[in-house]
Amino acid sequence: MNDIAFLLNGTPVRVSGDDPTRTLLQWLREDRGLTGTKEGCNEGDCGACTVMVTDAGGTRALNACILFLPQLHGRAVRTVEGLSGPKGEMHPVQAAMVDHHGSQCGFCTPGFVMSMAAAQVNGATDHDDYLAGNLCRCTGYAPIVRAAETVAGTEAPGWMAGALPEVGAAPFAPTSSDELAAWYAAHPDATLIAGATDVGLWVTKQLRDLPKVAFLHACADLQKIERDGDRLRIGAGVTIAALRKAVAGTHPAFAELLRRFASEQVRQAATIGGNIANGSPIGDTPPALIAMGAVLHLRKGETRRDIPLEDFFLDYGKQDRAKGEFVEAVTIPASAAGLACHKLSKRFDQDISAVCGCFAIGVEGGKIANARIAFGGMAGIPKRAAAVEAALVGRDWTLATVTAALPAFASDFAPMTDMRASATYRLEAAQNMLIRYFHEREGQAVSVLEVTP
Ligand SMILES: Cc1cc2nc3c(=O)[nH]c(=O)nc-3n(C[C@H](O)[C@H](O)[C@H](O)COP(=O)(O)OP(=O)(O)OC[C@H]3O[C@@H](n4cnc5c(N)ncnc54)[C@H](O)[C@@H]3O)c2cc1C
Ligand code: FES
Ligand code: FES
Repeated sequence: MNDIAFLLNGTPVRVSGDDPTRTLLQWLREDRGLTGTKEGCNEGDCGACTVMVTDAGGTRALNACILFLPQLHGRAVRTVEGLSGPKGEMHPVQAAMVDHHGSQCGFCTPGFVMSMAAAQVNGATDHDDYLAGNLCRCTGYAPIVRAAETVAGTEAPGWMAGALPEVGAAPFAPTSSDELAAWYAAHPDATLIAGATDVGLWVTKQLRDLPKVAFLHACADLQKIERDGDRLRIGAGVTIAALRKAVAGTHPAFAELLRRFASEQVRQAATIGGNIANGSPIGDTPPALIAMGAVLHLRKGETRRDIPLEDFFLDYGKQDRAKGEFVEAVTIPASAAGLACHKLSKRFDQDISAVCGCFAIGVEGGKIANARIAFGGMAGIPKRAAAVEAALVGRDWTLATVTAALPAFASDFAPMTDMRASATYRLEAAQNMLIRYFHEREGQAVSVLEVTP
């Protein structure tokens, strides 16, 4: 039996798993008539479809439009229809939105209140951060943030608590990496689905059929972050949100880059394994990981191999991954004090990088002892700036050295022009990032959040 069982607004439901890539949003609106959850973009960008999902790990705001039904097995889903109290009383976030005039046309409002309610459960108070994935076209954000401020730090109402359903094994979802390895080696043509923040769009936007799938979210051992001496091993199933929290103290620049990764709803689903395995030239984690000297752990059946992450990306759309082989983990140094990550995108929040430059330069006795510099958005793959590194290493750590190294960018990269940026802009921006890195290392404030006129 392929049944998927979960709680919907406190009531147990069973859904046929015959179509494992049916989205929660489709099911809510089309099968259950729960049309309070809106469809805006259907690609994870606008937050109109935000719902709350609770499991043993806690409560998260997620985008229902790129959440497949099997991902809900054993979890509790709350939609905007399940937000008010047992006597119909408004949830405090709903009341605050009314009081502060936080809604005009109202299309975005169900999504906003779900994000706020999830934030309240989690005690989150950085409204700019957790509301960045909710777009409002008409009200303007000031009244919405005012509403959020009045609720921040208050207790979630008692009716929001609830148990999780008792269920058996999840359909299409191995429960350990061993089980996954055996199954995938036997079904190498299958599509692996981790957070579905990329794969979801293959279904909703490209209308692709995925005849054979395996979901990775039940592989608990892939979700571990383990310290091993001076290394940190990050399981492929670790979400960007969990990683951001785990490395905030040890890898502050990386954690800050992860804050700029998509939105709260996407970060809570997206995994580091998916961000690497998709081979995107504009994924945010690979440049940072490569600059840190990350090692990738790949596995097929019982065979494992480790490679430097930069060797995984062969060409646009081509990675060093055999059929039936999957990403098990990635290892980075346990701290990264000298790392800087600069993401350039058209919007500060919730946007894909035009250029992402990550720098780890070691300076000893005034001389550049070593340099690892990696970029996204500058080539068909995430790529090291080998010529720039060579122009730096062994020389004095001065602005003159940095300036003299700038022409080497043109040897390393021949970026493309696309809707995000022109080739000329990309090249110049990458060069400027190195200058910025120099000034940052010399103690100047360079973050747009710190620099004031
Ligand atoms: C609105 C929106 C904003 C986004 N913003 C950003 C952003 O700012 N920065 C950024 O880098 N990305 C961004 N993304 C892209 C996406 O969120 C990331 O690439 C994410 O890390 C993918 O992880 P996932 O777990 O969702 O992968 P999935 O969608 O589940 O899978 C992606 C690919 O990886 C494969 N895969 C997954 N796990 C494994 C594994 N362990 N081994 C082998 N193959 C595997 C899948 O088969 C698939 O080919 C955004 C996406 C959306 C929808
Ligand atoms: S409909 Fe826009 S994020 Fe889901
Ligand atoms: S109130 Fe109209 S989109 Fe936000």
